[in-house]
Amino acid sequence: MTQDELKALVGQAALQYVVPGALVGVGTGSTVNHFIDALAAIKDTITGAVSSSEASSERLRARGIPVLDSNTVERLPVYIDGADEIDHQGYMIKGGGAALTREKIVADLAERFVCIADESKLVKTLGRFPLPVEVIPMAAAQVARRFKALGGDANLRAGVVTDNGNVILDVRGLSIADPLAMESEVNQWPGVVTVGIFARHKAGVCLLGTAAGVKTLTF
Ligand code: 5RP
Repeated sequence: MTQDELKALVGQAALQYVVPGALVGVGTGSTVNHFIDALAAIKDTITGAVSSSEASSERLRARGIPVLDSNTVERLPVYIDGADEIDHQGYMIKGGGAALTREKIVADLAERFVCIADESKLVKTLGRFPLPVEVIPMAAAQVARRFKALGGDANLRAGVVTDNGNVILDVRGLSIADPLAMESEVNQWPGVVTVGIFARHKAGVCLLGTAAGVKTLTF
C-alpha cells in the first residue's frame, strides 16, 4: 500500500471515534483530509466541527459540515489529527502543515486526542523530523539562537505565514529525550507562540496505518 492509501485507511477508521450527536475536533493535513472526506458520509449524525485551520474549515464547509467558532465551545469529546512523529508514549511532533497553534488550542478543548498516522510516523525518540515552532516575527533570530545553544539548527520556513500571521522555525538536530520538559522550556521563551511538541496534549489513542491494516495503540 502507498503512504497515501495508509493515510486513507486511518482516516476512515477514525470514524469509530466520532461521537453521535456531538461536535468533533478536526486537525489539519493530508491524513486529516481523508478523515474529513470520510466524515462527510456521516455528517448528519454530528452537530458540526471545530477546526484547526482555514484549510480544514474550507474542506469541511465544502462537504456540508458546519464549522463552529472555538470560542463558542466548552468541551469536545474527541479531537482527530495527524502527526509528523509519534513515540511509544503518545508524545508527538506536529506542525509540518504550520497549523500547530490552532491544533493545540482545539486539542485543549478535547477529552481525547485520536492521532491518525501511517506507520512511518512512529519513532522511538522524537526529533528526526525538524521541530516546527511558531514565533512572532521579531523574535525569530533570538529564538533561533536559543535553539543553537541546545544544539539545534533553526531555519525560517520560507514563504510561510501562519493563519495567525506569524512565522515558523524548523529546528533540526534535536533529540528530544524529555518531551514534557522541552515543551515547557521552549514555551517560556519570549516570542514563542507554540512549540510543535505535543506532550501536555499527547495522543490517547493512535490509529496507525500499516501494511497489515490499522493498528490501534493506546497510551
Ligand atoms: C499540521 C500537522 C499535521 O498533522 C502533520 O504535519 C501531519 O501531516 P500529514 O497528515 O499531511 O502527514 O501537524 O500542522
